[in-house]
Amino acid sequence: MKITQHSITLRQPDDWHLHLRDGDVLKAVITPSATVFRRAVVMPNLQPPITTVEQANIYKKNILKAIPKGISFTPLMTAYLTDQLSPIDLEDGFHKGAFFAAKLYPANSTTNSSDGITDLSAINPILESMERIGMPLLIHGEVTDPEIDIFDRECFFIEKKLQPLLKLFPNLRIVLEHITTKEAVQFVESSNNLLAATITPHHLHINRNAMFFRGLNSDFYCLPVAKREHHRLALRRAATSGKACFFLGTDSAPHTRMFKESSCGCAGIFNAPYALESYAEVFEQEGCIEKLEPFASEFGAAFYGLPLNESSITLVKRSQIVPDYFEVKGPTNSPQRIVPFHAGEKLQWTISRELS
Ligand code: DOR
Ligand code: ZN
Repeated sequence: MKITQHSITLRQPDDWHLHLRDGDVLKAVITPSATVFRRAVVMPNLQPPITTVEQANIYKKNILKAIPKGISFTPLMTAYLTDQLSPIDLEDGFHKGAFFAAKLYPANSTTNSSDGITDLSAINPILESMERIGMPLLIHGEVTDPEIDIFDRECFFIEKKLQPLLKLFPNLRIVLEHITTKEAVQFVESSNNLLAATITPHHLHINRNAMFFRGLNSDFYCLPVAKREHHRLALRRAATSGKACFFLGTDSAPHTRMFKESSCGCAGIFNAPYALESYAEVFEQEGCIEKLEPFASEFGAAFYGLPLNESSITLVKRSQIVPDYFEVKGPTNSPQRIVPFHAGEKLQWTISRELS
């Protein structure tokens, strides 16, 4: 890593948690991810979800087709766990290289999760085989019981679901995705090195007030929802701690304006276009820009046992204003808007567009 007064050059990062969607939205959102990140773990919550090798291969092909020419970008595909999924098919997909990992959505915990897991204990055979073959389990860590306050769902999940699961499967490699609480930070740092967590840029920047500032701001609504300020500060400390159990995963999750602002607005923040700049800002504010590289470009690869990227990327200290929206072709070819995270704000860093 090379740090000067005006620039940082770091090993090219990877995004260990990304939603790319499909069709016209995929085409509209892929470029910023593919030009900045060398690899990305692609979430399977399409409609219908990615549950078979064939679906994963088709989706991967569509992603690769949508990437601009000359860009090296590797999508790492995931399987969506359902109550019906057979452990044999999942293993087969892992051995064939079609599935890099499997994603566990508790049913109805978030966007396109209605086919997710209704009863965790019912998928023990799947988890047993994943543990045996070394297939990583990626978890959306929230309980779905409507009785549980939405701001407490991550903590409940850790206590009631994750802890017992770790006891039953002590050798299962697990990523607790997009953590949002001080409790999650503490839990992950006090566990062994088979448990890690991704942290998003938005959870480092906003607390729950952002959703309600002078009105209802659906652009800041995601799941798990942003929590109180002291949780945000705990996440900042975790991300910048230099601890290898915390690494970059943007959870960039585009939805068009229409879906964000409907009577039942979708959860998800589209942060891909300025994700690295957004993280850089946090690390600089915390006075440890030198910790950006391990967080963004090393710890995730190490956790997954993958080689580090050889290429590098440079951020220059030049401010830029984030556009208010991006346009994407809608269902009847009508233009739709997707609002990026930091829309209208000034960011301090800009990516120099030449990779080396
Ligand atoms: O805010 C979110 N959006 N959280 C998720 O877990 C899913 C994602 C999406 O797919 O839109
Ligand atoms: Zn996600």
